[in-house]
Amino acid sequence: MDKFYLTTAIDYVNGAPHIGHAYEKILTDIIARHYSQRCDNVFFLTGTDEHGIKIQKTAAEKGITPKELCDENAQKFKDAWKALDIDYNRFIRTTDEDHVKTVQKIFKKLVENGDIYKHSYQGLYCSGCECFLNEKDLTEDGLCPDHLKKPELVTEENYFFRLTKYKDAIIKHIKENPDFIIPEFRANEVLNQLEDIQDISVSRAKSNVQWGIDVLDDDEQSIYVWIDALSNYITAIGYDTENPSEQYKKLWPANVQVIGKDILKFHSIYWPAILMALDLPLPKHILAHGWITIDQSKMSKSIGNVIAPTDVLKNFNLEYPDAFRYYMATSAPCGRDGNYSDDDFKEKVNAHLANSMGNLLNRTLSMLVKYFDGEVKSEFKVNNEILKIAKNKIDIVKNHFDNFEIAEAGQEITNLVDITNKYVTDNAPWTLAKEEKMTECGQILTTVLEVMCIVSALIYPYCPNIAKDMAKQLSFDLSIKLDDLTADNIKTGKLISKEEIHPVFLRLDSELADKSSKK
Ligand code: MSP
Repeated sequence: MDKFYLTTAIDYVNGAPHIGHAYEKILTDIIARHYSQRCDNVFFLTGTDEHGIKIQKTAAEKGITPKELCDENAQKFKDAWKALDIDYNRFIRTTDEDHVKTVQKIFKKLVENGDIYKHSYQGLYCSGCECFLNEKDLTEDGLCPDHLKKPELVTEENYFFRLTKYKDAIIKHIKENPDFIIPEFRANEVLNQLEDIQDISVSRAKSNVQWGIDVLDDDEQSIYVWIDALSNYITAIGYDTENPSEQYKKLWPANVQVIGKDILKFHSIYWPAILMALDLPLPKHILAHGWITIDQSKMSKSIGNVIAPTDVLKNFNLEYPDAFRYYMATSAPCGRDGNYSDDDFKEKVNAHLANSMGNLLNRTLSMLVKYFDGEVKSEFKVNNEILKIAKNKIDIVKNHFDNFEIAEAGQEITNLVDITNKYVTDNAPWTLAKEEKMTECGQILTTVLEVMCIVSALIYPYCPNIAKDMAKQLSFDLSIKLDDLTADNIKTGKLISKEEIHPVFLRLDSELADKSSKK
């Protein structure tokens, strides 16, 4: 694998990030970190989607300019991703100058090629979706089914993109590439939607929408959100209609584009059509994740149950985001909806990260200090069934990642920890020490420490800080590539002293967690 390029959806900036937005960025960061353990050239793109009528209206209500609103809110997304250790390579804002210029060129090229034409139009526009809706998609009361708002009747002369021209080619691509849309079950949904697609409006009259990218050579139209937003995936890496950059040539097509299930249509129909019109290859995979609910309800401002990711860190006094990252990523198989609840969060991370994983490392190192003054002797190094299982887990985890099964890969790591805990219980090194079977005792402890090196490497994408702390106590070099990872990493000689041993994750016992567990 010579490169791995992955992207997230770019978030609207008419509010602050919530844990639904965070879920997607965490998943993508975990995929990025996993592939950075397999390849040197990983590029991870995220950002914000800043144009459109919603921003224009919100800014007007607040008495500030749209750009001021975008600056304020884009910063909130950046701050949240920092707190969650989302290690992206570029944060693109659709107001960035390089993006704006390239979008204008893309639009111009599509007009010149006849893929975009002007047409007078009347339609029902939902500013929540930032798109025109068909009458048949509305609820019985004539509302947008997602936003439960009445769409606005808009009559305008707009530019249209000839989506219908690419219908057959897209159907063919989806059928011939069953792993283009992940999870596979969503492909049928898309094929159904393709049945009655029409050409789509790609501009708005400036008299109605001023906050958009200007169409070159037409003062009356601004480019409407989706063509602007979707193009970010190529503008961010230096695509240009005449002179694409070396970086673009190296990175495109993306290996995976991570998005929520609600915007799959835009990514598996509109986006491929735009790319086909530009004569560019399609991304290898579109990964549509499910939605995160709160205590089993949809997150919404009107219910008042919107949770900011930084609030979870604050409420539980978390110094690092690792527990939250781990919980979110393993909350549901990718593609299915997941749920967040304080109780479940506390219970799961206490069980998996503190009791099982952290405690296993802690007591093994403590026994090594107690019985051997922290020293690993050469006769302690053996090859056994447990090490074979651990080594095999590396391939199992890699395979899951190749299918973007992030939760399942996480479960495999937990399972390895459980197997190893059982191995310790079954072999009772404390009893062996009492019976003065010191070599056997040392072999058990060293085996566990070897497994923990592998565990730290595998858990790193989910819990980078915990993994680094584990690796430090094991004197294990975490920068190793997974393909070079053996079950022989513990060096002989003094490994650790009593003072250097500490828990890698403390149980969560914040007030909020206690309160919610009493509910
Ligand atoms: N701006 C568009 C995307 C353009 S991509 C070229 C958009 N923005 S959004 O802010 O509404 O959503 C951004 C991402 O967050 C989407 O992938 C969406 O599915 C995801 N989520 C928003 N709420 C979510 C949950 N409650 N749960 C999980 N993901 C959710 O759509």
